[in-house]
Amino acid sequence: MYLSATSRIHELTPEERAVYATLTPSRLPEHVAIIMDGNGRWAGARSLKRFLGHQQGAKSVQMVTETASRIGLPWLTLYAFSLENNLRRPRAEVSFLMRLLRSYLESNLQRMMDNNVRIRYIGRTQDLPTEVQEKMQWAEEATAQNTGTTLTLALNYGARSEIVDAFKGLTAELKLKGLSAERVTEEDFHRHLYTAHMPDPDLLIRTSGEMRISNYLLWQIAYTEIFVTERFWPDFRGIHLLEAIAAYQRRERRYGGLGEAEREGQEVSEEARTSG
Ligand code: FPP
Repeated sequence: MYLSATSRIHELTPEERAVYATLTPSRLPEHVAIIMDGNGRWAGARSLKRFLGHQQGAKSVQMVTETASRIGLPWLTLYAFSLENNLRRPRAEVSFLMRLLRSYLESNLQRMMDNNVRIRYIGRTQDLPTEVQEKMQWAEEATAQNTGTTLTLALNYGARSEIVDAFKGLTAELKLKGLSAERVTEEDFHRHLYTAHMPDPDLLIRTSGEMRISNYLLWQIAYTEIFVTERFWPDFRGIHLLEAIAAYQRRERRYGGLGEAEREGQEVSEEARTSG
């Protein structure tokens, strides 16, 4: 159960406020992760070049982040650039995305400060171009003291590589401490993931209708609710985040256990057994 003390609901648009009014504030997710997809198709549908889709997608990033910060969402994690994007997209598109990321960080820093947003990253960011890493570090340091939403950008990220990196970190720790692998627990492994400092996502949103996970947060989404929308990312706004949260609140999370109805039925038959 999470209820933010710092939510700024009055700053939502009237349309967003109408959707927010349907939510149960005490059951807001703590962590929303998003696979931002469909930039290219958004551009193609308008006979525009793909890079314009990415540019528009960067605007969605800012708008959705600001809505998240207004409702007091603690963690928002966006898949901004995958390892596969880096390896499989044309060099010109990769360098455009790198330039876009730098200019995005630079031009939105003040808005991040105004919205009390802290910026962090996950992924093999050490392999990104130096000038991109410098700008990333600059934005992370500038926002480090902010206490609102933590916006985590997954950059040069792949979940399988994250698991491999965690494995390496864990085996190094075991070696250093002279421990055997026999006693390793899920918690030990979790401490070596890039996301060790955050809760697992409650809700994963994917835009543009594809029913895939695309190597995103594989360990962390074991019990995450998945919401897929046909909308392309450049058309995704804060109101759509709120609609996804409304759908999430209509779900029943069981974590492998029984649902509420089954639990009640179980209690009734237990009572009948003990009283009869
Ligand atoms: C998928 O669209 C999107 C990406 C390659 C990653 C997301 C990138 C952005 C939103 C732009 C910039 C982000 C930041 C943080 C500044 P696609 O090209 O795969 O779309 P398609 O499947 O329609 O071709």
